[in-house]
Formats: sequence, C-alpha cells, structure tokens
Amino acid sequence: MLSMVICVIIYSFRIKMRIRVIYYTLQAITNTMKKIEAIIKPHKLEDVREALNEAGVSGLTVTEVKGYGRQKGHSETYRGAEYKIDFLPKVKIEIAVTADQVDRCIEIILATAKTGKIGDGKIFVTNLENAVRIRTGENDAEAL
Ligand SMILES: Nc1ncnc2c1ncn2[C@@H]1O[C@H](COP(=O)(O)OP(=O)(O)OP(=O)(O)O)[C@@H](O)[C@H]1O
Ligand SMILES: [Mg+2]
Repeated sequence: MLSMVICVIIYSFRIKMRIRVIYYTLQAITNTMKKIEAIIKPHKLEDVREALNEAGVSGLTVTEVKGYGRQKGHSETYRGAEYKIDFLPKVKIEIAVTADQVDRCIEIILATAKTGKIGDGKIFVTNLENAVRIRTGENDAEAL
C-alpha cells in the first residue's frame, strides 16, 4: 500500500515536471517582445536616441529619474559639481522591441552611453507580454 502511494507521488511529480518544461519552452518560443530599460547619464541621451533611431527603433519613452548604484551616489560628479547626496539625476529610456532587436539595441546603448567612469548606468531587459496601438487596436509586434 505504502509503495503504491510512493509510486503515485513520484509519477505525479514527473508529470508536473514535464508540464513545467513544456510550459517554459512554449513561453520562450512565443515571447517575441522585450522591454529594454536603460538608465543612463542625462548628457548621453541625445547620442543614444540618435543611434537608436538610425537603427530603426520606432519609438521610445524617456523619463527623468533619480537613483544610485554601488557608490550610493557619492564621489560621482554631475556637470562638474560633486554631489554629496544619495540620489543622482539620471535618464531612463524605455524601449519596446521585438526579441531579435534586443542585442543590437544593447550594443548601441553600450557604444553611445559609456564614458568609462562610475555611474554610466544599467540596462535591464524583461519579457513584454503585449503591446497595443490605441488608435488601431493592433497587437504585439504590429503595435510597436
Ligand atoms: N540594482 C539596481 N536596480 C535599479 N536601478 C539601479 C540599480 N543599479 C543602478 N541602478 C540605476 O542606475 C543608475 C546608475 O547606476 P551605476 O551606473 O552607478 O551602477 P553601479 O552598479 O554603481 O556601477 P558603477 O560602478 O559603474 O557606477 C543609478 O543611479 C540607478 O538609477
Ligand atoms: Mg555607481
């Protein structure tokens, strides 16, 4: 009796594992859109925007943000003045792209936003579930 129960538990665990593998594989195949968030130095915005535009990125959102990284905002200068405060002004660029555009966009941001000094920023990439163009109701990649 006990061995039967153990067998059932092991069997159902195996099925669950298989379902999980199929689920993640399908998700990887079907997820065709990504969102790139890049936090950069404000004076680099124009170069980054221009290069992304030349690479065919159709739209982007820019927000003035404040933040800090490993140095907690210290020993970093902004327009010549040293900030003794925790938060430093940064610009956040958000771009929704198809998955095949991600590597190119990252290359462009690296090439155009890098000064080589601390505080150059970060790039975060996440899966994007859906996009909708409000005017037409188009979905997914067609809406980008
Ligand atoms: N882990 C994080 N999560 C969210 N935002 C972050 C994170 N790290 C950095 N940022 C954002 O990126 C900005 C720039 O970070 P920064 O380039 O200073 O990172 P760092 O890890 O300290 O690298 P570096 O040593 O090159 O300065 C921060 O002001 C903040 O807005
Ligand atoms: Mg830093």
